[in-house]
Amino acid sequence: TNWTTELRYRPYQAWSNNQIEDIRKKIGQSHWRLGYHIQPKTGLLNDPNGFSYFNGQWHLFYQSYPYGAVHGLKNWSHLISDDLVHWQDYGPTLLPGDKQDSHGTYSGSAIPVGDKLFLMYTGNVRDKNWVRHPKQDGAWMDQNNKVEKISTPLIPEPKSGFTDHFRDPQIIEHDGQYFALIGGRKKDDTGHILVYQAAQVTGPWSYKTELKFTQQDCGYMIECPNLLFVDDRPVLIFCPQGVNNNVLKHDNVFPNAYVIGERFDWETFTFINPSKMENLDNGFDVYATHGFNAPDGRALTVSWIGLPDTSYPSDNEGWANCFSLIKELKIKNNQLYQIPVIENEQLIEQKLASKEITPQAKLSGRVLDSIGTLTIKTDLGEELQVMLDTTNGKILVDRTNMGIKFATDFGTTRSAETAINQSIDFEMYLDNTVFELYINGGQKVITGRIFPQGQRFFVESEHVSIKKVQLDKIY
Ligand code: FRU
Repeated sequence: TNWTTELRYRPYQAWSNNQIEDIRKKIGQSHWRLGYHIQPKTGLLNDPNGFSYFNGQWHLFYQSYPYGAVHGLKNWSHLISDDLVHWQDYGPTLLPGDKQDSHGTYSGSAIPVGDKLFLMYTGNVRDKNWVRHPKQDGAWMDQNNKVEKISTPLIPEPKSGFTDHFRDPQIIEHDGQYFALIGGRKKDDTGHILVYQAAQVTGPWSYKTELKFTQQDCGYMIECPNLLFVDDRPVLIFCPQGVNNNVLKHDNVFPNAYVIGERFDWETFTFINPSKMENLDNGFDVYATHGFNAPDGRALTVSWIGLPDTSYPSDNEGWANCFSLIKELKIKNNQLYQIPVIENEQLIEQKLASKEITPQAKLSGRVLDSIGTLTIKTDLGEELQVMLDTTNGKILVDRTNMGIKFATDFGTTRSAETAINQSIDFEMYLDNTVFELYINGGQKVITGRIFPQGQRFFVESEHVSIKKVQLDKIY
């Protein structure tokens, strides 16, 4: 397919069902599909949206373009779970095409209000001259998961001084007031997060202030802001596009960053004593992490495993990208930890004793000497290598020789740092073509995709204790 702009923004009704059927058939032949990670049924998945607990269940949505593995006319596709592990995909739910969201229902969030779930999202609107006019829109979802949009935008235009890059509202409630955090690009090409306020979710919404969370430079645009609280401390997760490498050293096209504050001042929306900006994930493919403070007290997040402006080998099969496991955030010794939620233990099937492992597996262990290595090999000799250096406190992941090459302009290795001369422990979740490597109980995370041509996996290790278990294949 030649994905012209026209084709990518063709209304959904204009597509025949054959397109989806053709992609389904192709995907049916794929040996790259995932066993327990959320993946699109067809087409492209990007940001997680609207993560919430509503009507006794977990709800989550994803930015979706169903007709091919490209960024086209986006909808929110709806996932529901009882346990944060097994998700049922109900398909496109918040559809684009109305006046307030003609060119896509872009990223946003959700909050229960009364007996409904309120969705706040960015309506991507373009005019005849393809000039963008972003709208911050609202919609209600009832207990039967029926969505009704509010046709008048809640925030009809960017704040003055801002460009048309103004999106991704995170709605939160505090002291009986609602606040929306919106990412934006100022006309002077700097990235900011703006706070709007309303007494009711349907508005009127008015501009309150800018979120003050760092003195560091945030690049030219901030996407996907999330303000979360962990032990009453504010944590901001955001995507500072174009941030300088001196501020935040990153290898990916755009980074996903975080800042932790000592306290939060709700009067002025200020982080008191913010930490330095850090990478949320030291791996290859994490972006647009989205989270919320769940009613059970946990701060839960989920990441898009995929990057903007990046092609993946599965594109040829008509699908792209996946989500991470659902993670819980903790703060220990002033550092952020990301831990797959405890519910993931349900995935454990049985111990694996041989060198050969199943495509769905968890490997855990500890380095026993100054340097340990862990290699995942396929039957075709492709290798994903992990080097764990306790002396220098360094973890290196190398996918150079693991299958089909992609995104090589951004390098084929990634590294993370830990304390020097300290033991390192790890947990690696492997799911056929994605791995999530959690170091020291989630102090560092290294996530990435791999596209092996082999279909059998073997583990080799040196100087590490290792426990291997098979995980359930639920999709
Ligand atoms: C981030 C992003 C968001 C936008 C969405 C569109 O990946 O560009 O800023 O709302 O994707 O799909």
